[in-house]
Amino acid sequence: MKQRDMAEHGRRRWRLVLTASPLQGHMTPMLHLATFLHSKGFSIAIAHSELNRPDPSNHPGFTFIPLPDNLSATPSFANAVQFMQALNDNCRPHFLEHLVQIINEQKDSSDKESIVIIYDNLMYFAGSVASDLGLPSIILRTSSASTFPVFKIIPLLHQDGRFPVQESMLQEIVTELHPLRYKDLPFIGLPIEQTLETINIILPKTPPSAFIWNTLEFLEPSGLTQVRNHYQVPVFPIGPLHKIIPTPCSTSFLEEDMSCISWLDKQAPKSVVYVSLGSIAYMDEKVSTEMAWGIANSNQPFIWVVRPGSVKGFEWIEFLPEGLVTDMKVRGLIVKWAPQKDVLAHCAVGGFWSHCGWNSTLESLSEGVPMLCQPYDLDQKVNSRYLCYVWKMGVEIVVERGEIEGAIRRVLVSKQGEEMRQRAMEIQEKIKVAVSHGGSSQNSLKELIDFILSL
Ligand code: UDX
Repeated sequence: MKQRDMAEHGRRRWRLVLTASPLQGHMTPMLHLATFLHSKGFSIAIAHSELNRPDPSNHPGFTFIPLPDNLSATPSFANAVQFMQALNDNCRPHFLEHLVQIINEQKDSSDKESIVIIYDNLMYFAGSVASDLGLPSIILRTSSASTFPVFKIIPLLHQDGRFPVQESMLQEIVTELHPLRYKDLPFIGLPIEQTLETINIILPKTPPSAFIWNTLEFLEPSGLTQVRNHYQVPVFPIGPLHKIIPTPCSTSFLEEDMSCISWLDKQAPKSVVYVSLGSIAYMDEKVSTEMAWGIANSNQPFIWVVRPGSVKGFEWIEFLPEGLVTDMKVRGLIVKWAPQKDVLAHCAVGGFWSHCGWNSTLESLSEGVPMLCQPYDLDQKVNSRYLCYVWKMGVEIVVERGEIEGAIRRVLVSKQGEEMRQRAMEIQEKIKVAVSHGGSSQNSLKELIDFILSL
């Protein structure tokens, strides 16, 4: 039986309600998953907040359920907990009402559908509504599986007096989390109450029917095993989702500056450093100024993404001396938002200086591009440690112009950089195998579909 027919077999049909989070790094994988499941014949509804809403014209086959949220801006890290609580409290009533309406309509109809809720773990209200209505629910996780044991252990480290972390402990390995050091743990510097509350939000207390994880079995075997052992439900590692969908349409909230590609076409192979710190990191003027000087002094061609408003107190790059910007533009591009996946796939790109968000990490691994790692928080420090120490295709960046200059040159033009590129390309090959017919991610997707059909 073809999978399209499977989603409708035996006179039963499945309606999948996917609840997406308004953060770029969460919305993109959710829409990619939706596109994949739609291609297999499932009816798809996307429930989303009004903040950072997806563009329905890019997804003509889906229906959309806008949820009033009363929110005006994506949060900074410091107020993330309040943001998440408001988001969940405000979206819940309309979501519940909408599902009750569908269920009631079905009662009077001969046309029965099974409803399955797939939700981003940050949109936990969807799990609680599903459980209230007796509907099955599956969580999509868009960050690394290796972060799960870290979040799980922090409350225990706190009880043990090892978290918050003492300055003198930062370089030491956390015995239970080898190879992570205390400095790789998230939330260092955040008040402990806020840390515990955030972990409470991230880790579901009631297990869902299953997890879908945007990762690969070979990349994070230990993290995935720990999730399976802890929750005792199926876990489907089906990533990287952007490689599962052959031609994903743009899911960017900001307009992509396509001049990046024609500019890259004119550069020598593996010569360009691409610099981007994702969609939610904020910097201060000093950090950004050091970045600018480090990039300029490296004398390598570059693309530097500076998101409007991401440097505190400035609209864009007004803080940089005009002469420096003019000099920099001889050798590179400063843009507001780039078509990142296409940039990383371009043969001119030789290194990616990143905050190590999980999407950026997967996108770089998928293209065999070595990384310069400047993590901020959350899973990023864990990802950075894996990139540098386990997968050995990244270097840690110290944000000081001389250090930056040295790191860029190390990755782009030294023997060490060449070895890192070699390892990155080996991982890229394994990813190609995993996403092709018979590979681990493809098999996991088949198992996921069978699982949904069994609900
Ligand atoms: C957040 C968290 O920071 C991250 O740690 C977590 O794993 C997912 O959610 P974000 O900080 O935005 O995400 O980083 P990342 O996960 O890397 O996602 C950024 C996305 O924006 C990527 O898919 C990247 O391709 C895209 N992007 C970024 C662009 O398309 N253009 C850009 O110029 C910059």
